[in-house]
Amino acid sequence: MTPSHMTRVTCAALVAATATLAYAADATNPPVKARQEAMEKIGENMKTISDMAKGDRAFDAAAASAAAAAIAETAGTAPALFETQADDPESTAKPAIWQDFGSFTEKAGALKAAAAAADMGSLDALKASMMEIGKTCKSCHDDFREKT
Ligand code: HEC
Repeated sequence: MTPSHMTRVTCAALVAATATLAYAADATNPPVKARQEAMEKIGENMKTISDMAKGDRAFDAAAASAAAAAIAETAGTAPALFETQADDPESTAKPAIWQDFGSFTEKAGALKAAAAAADMGSLDALKASMMEIGKTCKSCHDDFREKT
């Protein structure tokens, strides 16, 4: 196995873990619930892609493209969903979001761009695209989400 191949497999596992581990109890405060639902939708679509990358689901270019498109679309709604500071005991959002909303918006834009640019034409392309998308999840969660 080449080092770059290793990196890819490790990253696929990490992204898969991110997509599945992250389901916490649901918030009840409506704006918090709405933004968590958007994130869950992003997570479910990411799981569709990572399941194919791991071989848990047959590669299906159309389904993978639809998942990437849904991620891009939902990422586009994130700035509006997070704009007003709202809290809930079940929220893992950090107050830093509202101290640096410009950076938060940029990171949502980076996810949208990576998902929109995803190439799902082959399994190898899917794995590479998933890594690019996954980096943008991590970049935002590192700064703006409590570790769960
Ligand atoms: C622009 C920043 C940002 C990006 C990009 C981002 N997230 Fe999130 N995500 C958050 C924040 C903030 C929360 C915590 C929301 C809360 O609990 O109020 C969160 C929460 C979640 C949750 C938990 C939702 C719940 O019900 O508690 C999942 C799952 C999730 N993200 C998956 C992903 C995946 C997968 C990606 C990439 C494909 C991604 N996120 C990209 C900011 C982001």
